[in-house]
Amino acid sequence: MRLDKLLANSGFGSRTEVKQLLKTGAVMVNDIRVKEAKYQVKEESDRVEVNGETVQYAEFTYLMMNKPPGVVSATEDNWDETVIDLLDARDRAKKPFPVGRLDKDTEGLLLISNDGVLAHNLLSPKKHVDKTYVAKVDGVVTEDDIAIFKEGVTISDNYTCKPAVLEVIQAEDGTSEAQITIQEGKFHQVKRMFEAVDKQVTYLKRLQMGPLKLDPTLALGEYRMLTEAELQTLMAAGK
Ligand code: URA
Repeated sequence: MRLDKLLANSGFGSRTEVKQLLKTGAVMVNDIRVKEAKYQVKEESDRVEVNGETVQYAEFTYLMMNKPPGVVSATEDNWDETVIDLLDARDRAKKPFPVGRLDKDTEGLLLISNDGVLAHNLLSPKKHVDKTYVAKVDGVVTEDDIAIFKEGVTISDNYTCKPAVLEVIQAEDGTSEAQITIQEGKFHQVKRMFEAVDKQVTYLKRLQMGPLKLDPTLALGEYRMLTEAELQTLMAAGK
């Protein structure tokens, strides 16, 4: 790989900025100062340093975000802030994208990666990767609702959802808090499922996607890299 590409992908600026950086003599490859942008490096074995700091090159990035409400699950948007805007420049440099979508007003677990194969596998309808949400709804969730969701609720556009597990966490004053696990990821699916039983979702948060659980220590808007163990179980779920 070209040295300027490796440095740009590692968050050291645009290709033009990286070329300037190289000209200053800040970059060493295996202890030799290199100023040439097109210098070829072996990213697996060569040691690249910028101002004495070793560059940890990894082609793929896997981030878990606690998505806040009010930002959109997209790479760019003309009006709204996106989840990618919340990333540090170094993370953005890897050109990651949200793996699946949460609505603008939905919070919680969002995987952000530049691994198209993993994304494809996790999102493929054939894989049935479970997603678990906590939802607050207007109305009291009944045993009938639980049974209908288990059977497969028919939502707008006449689509019958795959069986879903609905559990009531608490119900008071005509509202309910429930946990729901679905196998698909249709547009506004959870909201449309509750609408089908005459209930309005007023708050929605994703807790889990396949084996990946939202880290409870992440505040809204915060994110972190997946651990190696999380990544391995996620890869296995997408296989
Ligand atoms: N279902 C919804 O209705 N919205 C989401 O953001 C995710 C699932």
